Amino acid sequence: MTVLDVIQRSTDFLSRKGVESPRLQVELLLAHVLQMPRMKLYLNFDRALSEPELDTLRSLIKRRAEREPLQHIVGSTSFCGFEIAVNRDVLVPRPETELLAELAWSFLATLAGPPATVLDFGTGSGCLAIAVALKSPAATVHTVDISEAALVVARANALRLGAGERVLFHAGDGFSVIDPGIAFDLIVSNPPYIPSAEIVTLEPEVRDFDPRLALDGGADGLEFYRLLAAQGRAHLKPAGKLMLEFGEGQHGEISALFTNAGWTVETVVKDYSGRERILIARPGD
Ligand SMILES: C[S@@+](CC[C@H](N)C(=O)[O-])C[C@H]1O[C@@H](n2cnc3c(N)ncnc32)[C@H](O)[C@@H]1O
Repeated sequence: MTVLDVIQRSTDFLSRKGVESPRLQVELLLAHVLQMPRMKLYLNFDRALSEPELDTLRSLIKRRAEREPLQHIVGSTSFCGFEIAVNRDVLVPRPETELLAELAWSFLATLAGPPATVLDFGTGSGCLAIAVALKSPAATVHTVDISEAALVVARANALRLGAGERVLFHAGDGFSVIDPGIAFDLIVSNPPYIPSAEIVTLEPEVRDFDPRLALDGGADGLEFYRLLAAQGRAHLKPAGKLMLEFGEGQHGEISALFTNAGWTVETVVKDYSGRERILIARPGD
């Protein structure tokens, strides 16, 4: 069977299984098996696949048909141009979060004075903390996560990407493990924000493969925003900022929550598809 035959057949198969963008998924899996950039497949449509290559591809396509995320199958994803390893212990980093990373390192670049100190609350794979550290070469980024298993992944990512010295990991529940003596220049977070009862309605790739701890934002999805609004200020410098990602449609409630808790909401930033996704607030006036 040739590359083109395999692409066509597997695309039909994944499409019947309800997988989104089936052709792209097949091409990415095939490129992974053949260890070539996806675009190079187009120059190799007539290449015949060997039996071992076909066997490997079949098993990967089967996993994708069972709705295992592509990123878990290939073992990594790209985040702000950095390769972040992922598995079932961490949320697969999403493109919207790249925008949060960009806002974070752009803010740090405006700061004068001693090297900045940042907190990434709920670090998961470490994607945000690592990207911010690598783009802000003097900054120290503390991270916290309640999942020890996630921190194993995050630590390995930081080491592999050369950020091991400036990204520090704290295992535990929220601010309880953060040194109260540190005043951060910036707190970033993409906390769990799905209302508990909505988790069953999510796509299987998310519902069955992202850790529940990374999704569940409590009954109304806002539990972690309340916690950050109540406790975040004590950990920030007076001129510091809080940058938070949130889910579609949550911006009104979250802005109100922070304003009512005495924060100044500076702006709500839209993602590339025009939806409000990131809140930037400062401790007060
Ligand atoms: C939505 S994921 C975000 C992961 C990563 N920052 C990203 O953007 O891809 C939220 C993370 O918060 C962590 N988390 C959940 N409850 C927590 C808590 N009480 N304290 C600290 N981290 C928590 C989860 O384990 C998960 O890794």
